[in-house]
Amino acid sequence: LESFFRPKPLAGKRVLMTAGPTFEPIDAVRGITNTSSGKMGYALARACRDAGARVTLVSGPTALSCPFDVRRIDVQSAQQMHQAVLAETASADIFIGVAAVADYHVVNRSEKKLKKNGSAPVIELAENPDILATVASLPAAPFCVGFAAESENLIDYADAKRRRKKVPLLVANLAREAMGTDDNTVTLLDDAGIHPLPAMLKDDVARAIVDHLARLVDPTIS
Ligand code: CTP
Ligand code: CA
Repeated sequence: LESFFRPKPLAGKRVLMTAGPTFEPIDAVRGITNTSSGKMGYALARACRDAGARVTLVSGPTALSCPFDVRRIDVQSAQQMHQAVLAETASADIFIGVAAVADYHVVNRSEKKLKKNGSAPVIELAENPDILATVASLPAAPFCVGFAAESENLIDYADAKRRRKKVPLLVANLAREAMGTDDNTVTLLDDAGIHPLPAMLKDDVARAIVDHLARLVDPTIS
């Protein structure tokens, strides 16, 4: 109820997001995935909704239920996530890539369950499309926000990632600290510089990101 009375800095904006991991099948019962609970992405979806945005959430497999008043599109693989996102970008003002997208998919996947036969199978990988970089390079790109979970050299790696993907705002955190937990310590990187935020609950981090984002999208907001 409290959120009802808060200012609505994203009123009228259409936000498209990705969240959760992707799952890349090896065979009928196995696959490669990334560690991601989806909690940060879902918290951000709720924060965008509370800020007045219409939210579409393209989600990989998570244990979380769809937030109230958020439109969720369920996907498994990175290629499916890529397709689902591209089908929605034309009607988005803001794109936020929170998903832990698998960097590779299995080329020689089997439709049937692989059986043991005395020799270990060889899994052949090929790179997945970079969803965030693709969206950011569209001619009429929405305002793009990326995430970077690093295990070391946080700011250097995140800054390089922001430049490489050409996104105006990047949220960086140390991977081992955030995974599966309810709190997070992030640093925001934008054209103006580096903005470290204190350790907070993911819901509060999400609200801080939305406030920062809203000011970049509309500089007239105080
Ligand atoms: N991302 C994406 N599509 C991919 C890989 C990443 O959209 N195929 C997005 C993520 O959702 C995140 C950002 O790009 O917003 C950074 O993801 P990350 O894995 O940290 O970056 P990579 O470019 O994959 O670099 P690396 O894994 O080598 O650090
Ligand atoms: Ca990656």
